[in-house]
Amino acid sequence: MHENPSDHLKPNQEQLALRVEVATPRDWQAYKKIRLHAIRTDAEMLGISMRDARGEVMRGDEEWKRILARPDYHLVVLSWNGNEPVGMGVAVNNGIFYYPNDKNTWELGSDYVRKEFRGQNLQRKMIAFRLKEIINQGGTKVLFHVLANNRWSIPNAEHFGFSKMKERLGDKDYFMQLDLTDPLLKEKINAVLDAG
Ligand SMILES: CC(C)(COP(=O)(O)OP(=O)(O)OC[C@H]1O[C@@H](n2cnc3c(N)ncnc32)[C@H](O)[C@@H]1OP(=O)(O)O)[C@@H](O)C(=O)NCCC(=O)NCCS
Repeated sequence: MHENPSDHLKPNQEQLALRVEVATPRDWQAYKKIRLHAIRTDAEMLGISMRDARGEVMRGDEEWKRILARPDYHLVVLSWNGNEPVGMGVAVNNGIFYYPNDKNTWELGSDYVRKEFRGQNLQRKMIAFRLKEIINQGGTKVLFHVLANNRWSIPNAEHFGFSKMKERLGDKDYFMQLDLTDPLLKEKINAVLDAG
């Protein structure tokens, strides 16, 4: 049985209507806040090394703004509870592992939802948002790097039709892939976005 997520809210913390939006450069402080929180609490599940984490902590404000200025190769979606960022997801097409020169193949990553807000379909919505944006930008394929023990991300990715790639990475992680030209995909995306 699933726990009721609002049981985890702190006494002065109110749950408002949760929403997901594509981040713009104006959201840089919110993105910085949720990203540094995610790195502090879940760097291993996010696949972020200590070295990279240190680099992000030291990152200057201008760079945070710059990261959000190019959604054509670094797309960020945020989940919000009122004015508070409670989740994030990223998609990049700036040269990825399997397809370094293919601008139509994107990679999802950095999926994170604050503990108190988990189990309310935010990751699933953030995946749907990114897929919709990527399709609008002409993308045809998406990869998703997951740890084999990630009990939420894997079924959430499978929900959209992602499947495990044959090429192995290591024992603990692998890539999933999704063909964006699947005619049924738009319906799946819209069903997730339209659900309350
Ligand atoms: C993985 C993660 C992003 C999932 O986010 P989330 O918003 O809680 O996931 P969702 O609510 O969209 O998941 C939807 C499904 O999983 C269930 N679920 C997910 N987390 C749950 C939880 N903690 N408790 C109960 N149910 C949960 C939902 O109820 C829903 O199930 P249903 O289809 O049966 O209704 C979040 O657990 C997280 O941030 N983990 C740490 C970092 C991490 O692992 N990142 C992923 C890297 S690939």
